[in-house]
Amino acid sequence: MQHLNLDDLGQYSDVVLSRSGAAVTVRFVELHDADALQAYFRGLSVRSRYNRLMGAASELPAGQLDKFIHVGEADSFSVVATISRDGSETIVGEARYAFDEATSRFELGLSVADSMQGQGIGAALLSNLECRAAALGADQLFGDTLRSNEAMLALARKAGFTFAPTPGDWKQVRFVKQIDTVPTANPCVVWRLAAQSLQPILA
Ligand SMILES: CC(C)(COP(=O)(O)OP(=O)(O)OC[C@H]1O[C@@H](n2cnc3c(N)ncnc32)[C@H](O)[C@@H]1OP(=O)(O)O)[C@@H](O)C(=O)NCCC(=O)NCCS
Repeated sequence: MQHLNLDDLGQYSDVVLSRSGAAVTVRFVELHDADALQAYFRGLSVRSRYNRLMGAASELPAGQLDKFIHVGEADSFSVVATISRDGSETIVGEARYAFDEATSRFELGLSVADSMQGQGIGAALLSNLECRAAALGADQLFGDTLRSNEAMLALARKAGFTFAPTPGDWKQVRFVKQIDTVPTANPCVVWRLAAQSLQPILA
């Protein structure tokens, strides 16, 4: 798997567009994001948080927060989607993807702040994750979501994922997508850097 330069995570930042054309930065989470990220999770509606964490929780459990901010550990990566508001950066979404070496698959989960949902940010974030996963050599991307989560199911369907039962949990459904194409539209920086170096990015 590609080795990211963990001392300079900022270089892997992308700008994606909401449906209205507003710029949204997608960047790796850094250690200093811990408080803002936790505030983001606390600020989600009960329903959104339940859907994201697959259970009732008022915030991101401490152990998970620790994992979120340590990008690259255990081949797991977290990004935040941010916008600039009154000169300061605000987290409006997050996503986490983890590489499984044995299957070359990435598992993902994501959320968008309730006040920002329905503006195309989830779709843009998911597309960016696909690019990041492709650059890391993933063959397949998948996620598990509650069967009742219509928004996530519709988002995944629209993004070309197919569906399968989640092993061992009838309340969830697995969305799966084969990653076999070179990203062409607005490729992520991780991809561009790999292409520029003309080096195989898998170590
Ligand atoms: C699922 C989620 C990430 C979607 O993000 P979003 O920014 O609102 O989605 P987008 O605006 O990009 O919508 C993209 C497509 O998803 C579908 N969609 C999004 N919200 C929907 C809703 N409430 N109902 C039905 N379809 C919906 C639509 O097909 C939409 O395309 P369209 O607007 O052109 O029809 C967001 O609802 C969320 O954060 N939910 C809470 C956390 C969660 O459920 N995470 C998933 C766990 S894996």
